[in-house]
Amino acid sequence: MLSTPITKNLDYDKVYEPSEDSFYLLDCFEEEKEYLEAKFKDRVPVITEIGTGSGIVTTFILQNIVHDGIYISTDVNPNACKSVLETVQYNCPTAAHLVDSTQMDLTSAIRQHTIDLLVFNPPYVPASEVPEIPASDEDATWLDLALLGGEDGMIVTWKVLNNLEHILSSDGVAYILFCARNKPDSVADLMRQRGWNVDVIINKKAGWEVLSILRFVRS
Ligand SMILES: C[S@@+](CC[C@H](N)C(=O)[O-])C[C@H]1O[C@@H](n2cnc3c(N)ncnc32)[C@H](O)[C@@H]1O
Repeated sequence: MLSTPITKNLDYDKVYEPSEDSFYLLDCFEEEKEYLEAKFKDRVPVITEIGTGSGIVTTFILQNIVHDGIYISTDVNPNACKSVLETVQYNCPTAAHLVDSTQMDLTSAIRQHTIDLLVFNPPYVPASEVPEIPASDEDATWLDLALLGGEDGMIVTWKVLNNLEHILSSDGVAYILFCARNKPDSVADLMRQRGWNVDVIINKKAGWEVLSILRFVRS
């Protein structure tokens, strides 16, 4: 059993609090440890978590899976960008210099074809629309942005999937979380038709919801 990072002194009115979805991502990376260690044994990978929130997932990967990666984390929420650095510093002070965090939309400020390991626990809850980015750092609607994913809860996730071939390096891998209402089986079929190998790494109940984590690599 790998250790779970401690998230301390974060303001959960402004940053997504680690929840079952976050913990399923930790389970996913525990399961994928050997695969990722083998994949990156001869090089230093670039690792990007989109939407770090508290930073629990990025910190877990740094602490337990990839100790010598280049971590470029992103979130639209500036409070999350600060939180990931605090969580890394608290749990892995000697490796904290490996992690940078930048406020951006998805991976928009990262050069194409550079990311070797992409992680995204998106706003996946179906809603009438994806909220606007708040005008102020203090705005309470940051948490809506963490959750609400527009039609089928898939508006934000599709932006990543439709651009995945440009986001990932030539042998990059992406792990993306879905709820059942996102129709992950149909998403997987469509991505396979586009030339991706898609595997279900996690499929578990979370209350009344079923969450899945899919792994995408080029065929
Ligand atoms: C469900 S939370 C996940 C937080 C964290 N990764 C975890 O698993 O606990 C989704 C995160 O994505 C961020 N987010 C939403 N839309 C985004 C976008 N367009 N670009 C970057 N981050 C985004 C939110 O601010 C939030 O921190």
